[in-house]
Amino acid sequence: MPYLLGLDVGTSGAKAVLIAEDGRVVATATEEYPLHTPQPLWSEQDPADWWRGSRAALRRVVQESGLPAAEIVGLGLTGQMHGAVFLDAQDRVIRPALLWNDQRTGPQCDEITRRVGAKRLIAIAGNPALTGFQAPKVLWLRQHEPEHYARVRRLLLPKDYIRLLLTGEAATDASDAAGTLLLDLERRDWSDELLAALEIPRAWLPRVYEGPQVTGRLRAEVAAELGLPSDLPVIAGGGDNAAAAVGTGIIRDGVISSSIGTSGVLFAHSDAIRRDPEGRLHTFCHAVPGAYHLMAVTLSAGGALQWLRNSLRALAPELSYDDLVRQAAAVPPGAEGLLFLPYLSGERTPHRDPLARGAFVGLTLRHGVGHLARAVMEGVVFSLLDGLTIMRELGLDIDEVRAIGGGARNALWRQMQADMFGQPLHRMRAEEGPAFGAALLAGVGAGVYPDVGAAVQAAVATTDTVHPDPTGAAAYARQYAIYRELYPALRPAFHHLAQLGA
Ligand code: XUL
Repeated sequence: MPYLLGLDVGTSGAKAVLIAEDGRVVATATEEYPLHTPQPLWSEQDPADWWRGSRAALRRVVQESGLPAAEIVGLGLTGQMHGAVFLDAQDRVIRPALLWNDQRTGPQCDEITRRVGAKRLIAIAGNPALTGFQAPKVLWLRQHEPEHYARVRRLLLPKDYIRLLLTGEAATDASDAAGTLLLDLERRDWSDELLAALEIPRAWLPRVYEGPQVTGRLRAEVAAELGLPSDLPVIAGGGDNAAAAVGTGIIRDGVISSSIGTSGVLFAHSDAIRRDPEGRLHTFCHAVPGAYHLMAVTLSAGGALQWLRNSLRALAPELSYDDLVRQAAAVPPGAEGLLFLPYLSGERTPHRDPLARGAFVGLTLRHGVGHLARAVMEGVVFSLLDGLTIMRELGLDIDEVRAIGGGARNALWRQMQADMFGQPLHRMRAEEGPAFGAALLAGVGAGVYPDVGAAVQAAVATTDTVHPDPTGAAAYARQYAIYRELYPALRPAFHHLAQLGA
């Protein structure tokens, strides 16, 4: 039987997954690596850490599976989107990579909008200039580190740097490339107009493939080190959200996924390009050939609950998520009038405001830790609901929601999503995330499945379903109306705080 590998070059670590043709997960391995914030708003990683972590994770899944190497027939790549890896003429890393959650490029985003024009940017690239995207990072390097900029000969996304080391080929896929802000979404190739406007040489950029295409083969010395067949086909894959969507079966209009991980993501498939004229949602290519997707991103989702738990742990070192969620579950829907804005690291959807901040609103003497925890969990889902509301405004008919990420393992968070979205919420049989989808794309590239639809049919299944509860839904609807008033009211205070440098 053929087996397939997926590798996710994530933010907290590299994850490798080995699956059988029917979607059964045979082995997984994760290798963590650090994230650096050398200055406020900066977020960087050392690509050498990704390479070390990726090799270790791949080696471990192969060893743990005990499978003969010859039965592994393809490797698909996925990873954190938007990062900028700058390489010199010898493909050496020039400086640490700037990541998707780096917020330093506000002025460069303004410059891109000035140079290209806000409407033209959305018409070509599908999105406005946002601080996390790759293109503004290039302008930042040019302005702030000209000695580094002068050495740049190649610009890659995180997973594609690993591809270069695995195969020797510079290549990317359309879904990840769309997150650079340099791709022409309709042509699914680099936009000469955008490259000229931003003075970025086309020669720096890799060739763009569709998700299931073969981009190269494993170099013999890497194959020997990892215990994999030399010449193993390495498949284009996708950005982490698009690859996760393949693994969740989000490959037709009407089915969306809701992911609560560190960040929160709503992901909808779209046969045709659907742009949000206000740029609140991201419009990117899908890892399914020719298809597109819409995406709403809440920067602090599970991260907000983690912040609360870590803060409380200063006083109660043993406090676990389970303790916190148990306390939250004892409080009724609506947290007895306590609301939380989850903008702990600024926000993308719907506000596009790197200076937005978190807030508890409505505190009284009656509220305790359970209320705080419940309000945080509810605030995260309200923020996702903002994304869903815009998707509905853009004419998407949604008939099914699939829950993924750490939040999918939490019964309270699942019920909140079903109640607020007003849709049944399904869980997935395999919860291996982007790496699982990358392995399925590898299966298409290696000829195990004829196309992505067949891969999903063979390997993706939902398990249990949560249905909306009318009482909870009514309480959340009342609370959401108030939630919507909070950001516009607090925005001046958030910006004032930022001006003070606080
Ligand atoms: C998507 C985004 C994040 C990263 C995290 O636009 O920025 O989901 O891909 O891995």
